[in-house]
Amino acid sequence: MNDQSKTSLTLTILVAALTVLTVAFLSNLWGRTSPVADLPLVPPWVTNTATARTNYADLIRMKADLSDFDCYVCHDQKKPPVLKFDANHNIIVPDEHKDIVMGHGRHNRNNVCYNCHDESNLELVQTRDGRELKLSESTPLCGSCHGPTYRDWEAGVHGRTSGFWDRSGPIDRKPCVSCHDPHSPKFPSREPAPGPHPLRVAGSRPSQERTH
Ligand code: HEC
Ligand code: HEC
Ligand code: HEC
Ligand code: HEC
Repeated sequence: MNDQSKTSLTLTILVAALTVLTVAFLSNLWGRTSPVADLPLVPPWVTNTATARTNYADLIRMKADLSDFDCYVCHDQKKPPVLKFDANHNIIVPDEHKDIVMGHGRHNRNNVCYNCHDESNLELVQTRDGRELKLSESTPLCGSCHGPTYRDWEAGVHGRTSGFWDRSGPIDRKPCVSCHDPHSPKFPSREPAPGPHPLRVAGSRPSQERTH
């Protein structure tokens, strides 16, 4: 066999082999591997940056229905509502305020409305040291009893600070009532967010991944 016929033979074998492979691939002889499963979307509640609560100041900005805050539509400016208590000295919340669930502190130690609301002007709240604040600016009210937490909040250790971390622009420190209901302030426990997706579990084939 001379060099030329060796070359022809090699090329013929190559062409034949590639033709067989082409036919095999086109006729899908080994079956296709299933496509990699789509990554499940992160549930929207995990990436939602809204605070747990919409407070009074938020409602004013949103121009929402503020009738719950119009105290003097129902109350008389000259006659502050009289607090009612049951035999065990637990406060009785009247039906007109049944959306309010009182439970401030583990032993309901701060359930008395006028610890916070000002009886002589229901549209204001009053701090322990006698300051009068608008109902929409209640953070110093909370701070007047929760000094250490308030100092943590001012330092950015408690609560949430948004905006410019290096103070090159304004910062936005969320008020206490963005997270805590003033009437039942215990923060409910929440479900942890799902862990990161590992894209493909080591050792598993894509077809297996589709099952979960
Ligand atoms: C839709 C009408 C209505 C509105 C609005 C309203 N109240 Fe009342 N509230 C009542 C009625 C009715 C009672 C029970 C009778 C009473 O004590 O005057 C009551 C009772 C109260 C009491 C006594 C609670 C107790 O345990 O005995 C307080 C304090 C009070 N209201 C505060 C407020 C404040 C503060 C606002 C505004 C932020 C407000 N209310 C808005 C109708 C209303
Ligand atoms: C720990 C302080 C505190 C106590 C105690 C308290 N409140 Fe309030 N209350 C607030 C603050 C602060 C707001 C405004 C919350 C916001 O910005 O969303 C408010 C809002 C309200 C409102 C208007 C919005 C709504 O939830 O209906 C009413 C009415 C009201 N309080 C009545 C009462 C009554 C009645 C009591 C007693 C049974 C009471 N509060 C006890 C702090 C308090
Ligand atoms: C008049 C004083 C007073 C004011 C004003 C006040 N608190 Fe409290 N707070 C208390 C007391 C007392 C407790 C109960 C402490 C305990 O049980 O050990 C408490 C408990 C709490 C708790 C813990 C609840 C739990 O069950 O673990 C939170 C959260 C809280 N307050 C948030 C707030 C927020 C937010 C405000 C402002 C809207 C506020 N407080 C205003 C006195 C106050
Ligand atoms: C961005 C949300 C957020 C804001 C704003 C916020 N808190 Fe809290 N706070 C929480 C959460 C969540 C917990 C529960 C922590 C836990 O269960 O371990 C908590 C717990 C607390 C407690 C229970 C005791 C403790 O320290 O663990 C108090 C009291 C309290 N907050 C007061 C305040 C006061 C006062 C302010 C405003 C000056 C405030 N919080 C602002 C989210 C917030």
